[in-house]
Amino acid sequence: MKIQRFSRIGFIMAAAGSAVGLGNIWKFPYMTGEYGGGAFVLVYLITIAFIGFSVMVAEMLIGALGRKDTVGSFEELAPPNRKYWKYAGFMGFNGIIIMTFYSVVIGWIFYYLVKLLFGLPSTTDEAKQIFNTLVGDNEIIAIVCHTISVIIVAWIVNKGIKSGIEKINLILMPSLMIILFGLLIYAFSLDGFSKAFAFMFEPKWEKLNSEAIVRAVGHSFFTLSLGMGAILTYAASLPKEASIPKTAFIVTFMDTLIALVAGLVIFSFLFQFGAKPGQGPGLVFISLPTILNNFGTLGIFFALLFFLALAFAGITSAISLVEPVVQYLIDRFNQTRTKAVFLTSLIYWVIGIGALLSYTNSWGKIFSLGGKPLFDILEYTTDSILLPLGGLLIAIFVGYELHKDRVKAALENSMGDTIFHIWRFSIRYIAPIALIFMMLNLMGIIKI
Ligand code: PFF
Repeated sequence: MKIQRFSRIGFIMAAAGSAVGLGNIWKFPYMTGEYGGGAFVLVYLITIAFIGFSVMVAEMLIGALGRKDTVGSFEELAPPNRKYWKYAGFMGFNGIIIMTFYSVVIGWIFYYLVKLLFGLPSTTDEAKQIFNTLVGDNEIIAIVCHTISVIIVAWIVNKGIKSGIEKINLILMPSLMIILFGLLIYAFSLDGFSKAFAFMFEPKWEKLNSEAIVRAVGHSFFTLSLGMGAILTYAASLPKEASIPKTAFIVTFMDTLIALVAGLVIFSFLFQFGAKPGQGPGLVFISLPTILNNFGTLGIFFALLFFLALAFAGITSAISLVEPVVQYLIDRFNQTRTKAVFLTSLIYWVIGIGALLSYTNSWGKIFSLGGKPLFDILEYTTDSILLPLGGLLIAIFVGYELHKDRVKAALENSMGDTIFHIWRFSIRYIAPIALIFMMLNLMGIIKI
């Protein structure tokens, strides 16, 4: 099967499009709010720099050298007597599990884009009611929105790498950046900005507990789209002349910058009117629209821009979550792209409905396990277990199974000797140790 190639800028935008998602604009700000700001941000930045970036280079390397789907690339590159490494390639299926809840949230965003056109909530109670009705009572609307999200994503992925994925990223990513930086410039003029800046960058160590550290590490993988073969699958279409370390650096940098900008924008608006930062997942859906109401009509405009940016970020990430399985079905089972997209979309659409119903008052009990809603179980399993596990496998594979000379030859022209050795040390020791610690901690086997 011949894989199409991205252009260089097309690849950067597609990989950045994958990385920059709901994780940056929705999750990062509310996690920062919940875990007390500066110290959490610092741990997140350190993890991105010392582990995330190294694993990003490693994952791109497997795709660029293997040039196949996730399973095929691992199989191709594994030493002859250790072809069982192909099973690591099944990490590509994590994307479908993530999509079951990711698509539901994109659906909520679509709903807000229409709802907010008619005005913003004037009190937190009203905002809560809008959100709780959508999530808890109005399953039909939520299913319709989730379905629209599934169809849009399927439509783009069905067009393939060049005329679907590359094209849409070349449009949506710059648009998203213009919107967010525009909002940042406005936020800069508010009194709330300096408070937001202090909240995000002055570490309050007393707020940092082991849970916050583990969540920061887990989130750094989620936000960079690592550990499930999205970056690997895109890198199989990397143009020959592209430098892996440079590209990985640009993508990591863009992802981090956008998360920080989104945080600054949201907290500036919130602090301008004295709202509290630690409001959990409702931060963007409940607190932000209520606060923006203080700006009158301008507030509606800001809210629409913000939710549009959120929708763009979600869609570009969603296509990268679906593509690995689609590519796998095409490569392995000779399926047409359309059939592969249909089958993949159908699976996560159905499970997504289960996830969505698990939050409703009428169906919640049926779609819960041990008192936990299916939505939360899916999110926790991917974010905290499957992605770190995928990252660990990638680090071990590149650090120990791929021949050093081969790795060096692929990275050498854009990585000096010293940087290469630091990177390799990180991929062989720092990343695996940190990831193993994190997983053991999550399983409650060790406490840090
Ligand atoms: N990085 C995306 C976000 O921050 O929202 C989510 C994601 C996309 C995770 C693709 C994993 C992935 F492979």
